[in-house]
Amino acid sequence: MNDLERMKTFYETRSRQGWSVYECYPFFLACKQKWILTKILKHIETPAKKLLDIGAGEGDFLLTMIRLGFSPSNITAVEYLSDRIERLHVKLPQVESHCNDYLKLTFPSEFDIITLMAVLTSIVDNDVRYSIVSKALEELKEGGILIIYDFFNDKEPFLHPDYRAASLKKIKEIAISCSMTVHKKVYLKSKYAKGLCKIGLPALIPLFEALKLFNDNYHFIVIRK
Ligand SMILES: C[S@@+](CC[C@H](N)C(=O)[O-])C[C@H]1O[C@@H](n2cnc3c(N)ncnc32)[C@H](O)[C@@H]1O
Repeated sequence: MNDLERMKTFYETRSRQGWSVYECYPFFLACKQKWILTKILKHIETPAKKLLDIGAGEGDFLLTMIRLGFSPSNITAVEYLSDRIERLHVKLPQVESHCNDYLKLTFPSEFDIITLMAVLTSIVDNDVRYSIVSKALEELKEGGILIIYDFFNDKEPFLHPDYRAASLKKIKEIAISCSMTVHKKVYLKSKYAKGLCKIGLPALIPLFEALKLFNDNYHFIVIRK
């Protein structure tokens, strides 16, 4: 089974809720979203720009960007899974959407901003995920920015068959000729945060985070070409 077939099965067998940065257990995710938004506002000055969102899911991130002032007609979305892109299309009919593997598509290098939001860690094949980063850099306009938001661990532990941490070292190698800003934030692993929210104890999340035993390192990376 190749990586995309595996991912299709993974999505089909889990509930619709819970694998997007923009849904589910609201208390915890609202904090994550706020952090992401402050970084976006810090790095993206004018919204009148051409944006490509790779692995766009159901479009929740793009909806946020439109609320921030991006014009839907300046946005291109690529998503491999047809049911997800169909829901994106219903929400955002003016966005140019492609249901395909990003590696199979070719775009002119005209994007001011390319985003990979929680995409790399959902691809377990290292060749595939880092090829996506290289291709995204090629399709970025000179002076444009590639934004990567995900969890990172340079030791690359492979603990789950459906996701694995990304490597900052590898991203730095790929983007060697670009300038890079890395914002880091530690969060309790989603499954524990979700569990605490489920039993009505979200207030314990900061306590668990302070224990430093069950955390994930999230990075918001801005790569300027
Ligand atoms: C964890 S979800 C994140 C969705 C969205 N970016 C968000 O934050 O809400 C990762 C998405 O990337 C998509 N994806 C993974 N590899 C892809 C590829 N090669 N081409 C297009 N989409 C891909 C998956 O189908 C999945 O919908």
